[in-house]
Amino acid sequence: MNFNTICSMNSILRLYPRHKHLIHTLVRRHPLSNAVKRPLALGILRLKSPCDHAINNFCVSSSNSPNVQKLTKPGKDFSDQLSNGPSLRDFTAQSNEASAEVAVDGIEVPYLSHHDVNGQQRKVFFETYGCQMNVNDTEIAWAILKENGFIKADDIKQSDVILVMTCSIREGAEDKIWKRLKYLKSLKQLRKQKQPSAPPVKIGILGCMAERLKEKLISTERAVDVVCGPDAYRDLPRLLSVAGTGQSAVNVQLSLEETYADVMPVRINSTSTSAFISIMRGCDNMCTYCIVPFTRGRERSRPIDSIIEEVKILSDQGLREVTLLGQNVNSYRDTSSAVSYSIPEDKTKNSRGFKTVYKPKVGGRRFSDLLEKVSEVDPEMRIRFTSPHPKDFPDEVLYLIRDRKNICNHIHLPAQSGSNSVLKAMRRGYTLESYMELVEHILSIIPDVALSSDFIAGFCGETEEDHEATLDLMRKVKYSVAYTFPYSMRQKTGAFHRLNDDVPSEVKLRRSGELAKVYREEVLKLNLAQTGETQLILIEGDSKRSEYDLAGRNDANTKVIIPKYTLTWNHKDGQERDARPGDYIAVKITGASSQVLHGNPLFLTTLQNFKTEKEKMQLFQ
Ligand code: SAH
Ligand code: SF4
Ligand code: F3S
Repeated sequence: MNFNTICSMNSILRLYPRHKHLIHTLVRRHPLSNAVKRPLALGILRLKSPCDHAINNFCVSSSNSPNVQKLTKPGKDFSDQLSNGPSLRDFTAQSNEASAEVAVDGIEVPYLSHHDVNGQQRKVFFETYGCQMNVNDTEIAWAILKENGFIKADDIKQSDVILVMTCSIREGAEDKIWKRLKYLKSLKQLRKQKQPSAPPVKIGILGCMAERLKEKLISTERAVDVVCGPDAYRDLPRLLSVAGTGQSAVNVQLSLEETYADVMPVRINSTSTSAFISIMRGCDNMCTYCIVPFTRGRERSRPIDSIIEEVKILSDQGLREVTLLGQNVNSYRDTSSAVSYSIPEDKTKNSRGFKTVYKPKVGGRRFSDLLEKVSEVDPEMRIRFTSPHPKDFPDEVLYLIRDRKNICNHIHLPAQSGSNSVLKAMRRGYTLESYMELVEHILSIIPDVALSSDFIAGFCGETEEDHEATLDLMRKVKYSVAYTFPYSMRQKTGAFHRLNDDVPSEVKLRRSGELAKVYREEVLKLNLAQTGETQLILIEGDSKRSEYDLAGRNDANTKVIIPKYTLTWNHKDGQERDARPGDYIAVKITGASSQVLHGNPLFLTTLQNFKTEKEKMQLFQ
């Protein structure tokens, strides 16, 4: 056993039962045990081996992880610091103070004394798999490492550290990472052969797979040096420095408070016109098929003010679109201050006919409050959000989407299934009827809204009739985007414990294919029906298929391709110029496939002026 691990006290005791007395004594005698009124929950242990009794590095923290600075100075203001959580600056202070040694009743406890957590210009290469949250988490991890002296490598072969942001949602997602790890291992070996005297490349696994598999990742694939869960990115510099000493380093501690509110993500793709902003983390819904609550932990929301601050910075940088991200964005609730905006002390109002598995959340600033404030920052910045849950769509949110020109008329409304018995087994908290009622209600408020969805094929107990019901739902709603997934049983989930994964894989695949086929048929009709419409698109860049075309997206997030070289404009300053990424352009839709729309550019415009200019143009036609 040669890990540097952060784990719960119980796990430590389970790992080292023979040292129970010593561990208890250290925790009890630590200076913090008087300052923290709740039981000390964590231990950071570095044991050379369980046999030599060498506890040469030990510190304790509460669940909201005060930093070492706090640990070494647990005097005044400690409770204030606890409620605020550590900032990035605090973290740097932690590194600087890392050499302090503390004597706990005569027991010498050195804090990382021989680890310098500074990256010293080591080059880090990032690979990101999984959902958009992972893209944003990569940017958070990179911001933390950059602040700590690391630099970014653009070529994997030139890097000193390779960090893989992983996903566990389905077995296939994990298989892809295992395969990739084999390649990374060969890279590591090659470097060793070619440059035997250079420090070996370090491989770190971050994100959901790190959280799910923990130390098992290292014991299965010995090329892995660092395992870091979604709530532990602040600890990355320390984990990498431990890895630099030749040991493996693991931190998979989940937090009830961590939102990285104070970490300004550093964009990996700096040329993009759009950016992701995490507004909340974790999920309390516990759908029976889903691993996310176990890999991402409990739901918590980031304070509104820090989100608005980030939106302002992005607007100043000229970005034209932000997507608010969370596992469950619309159950957002900022309880960090006593202010309650829309309805004071209100309880969460579910969409009609929808239930939650947890107690209704009370007070705080809600998703509609956030959406309203975000939309006020820059009227020329488009706002999107994902992923919402159908249960949390109060009318305030729908009216905002309808009334604000910069909130896109697009709602992701994951249905998962069209069969009531399957929805019940999935514990989604709604029936087909209540879902359809919500769809109709949304359409009555926002008639031109685009709806998208996720579907799972072959969930436990799903019959052919259940599957037909899902196909029917797809035909009725006509989604602009639908993702279909064959069900993949995940350990720890409700389904794993209580249900039978009884649909054979070939049937799951066949049904998933049928769902995708019906979706494509319906979306083709939906897209073709848009021919002749004048739509607003935001230009993203060159089309991937042709250097003569530009690609943009309309409100529904559907890709629209327009020809490039015909675009010269009588712009405000009288200059003519080609269209470029970040421009809003009115286009006439001329054709469609199931994947994209094609259009001709009409005029350069703004988000706020598009409607009036379009009406004017139609008057003259
Ligand atoms: N928070 C989001 C979903 C995150 S996961 C939401 O509730 O919509 C994205 C999608 O993956 C889910 O909507 C679901 O369709 C699919 N999914 C989740 N777990 C799965 C599993 N075990 N097997 C197959 N698909 C799954
Ligand atoms: Fe998973 Fe359900 Fe939470 Fe979405 S709402 S992340 S599907 S548990
Ligand atoms: Fe995958 Fe984790 Fe996102 S499991 S889908 S990376 S939240």
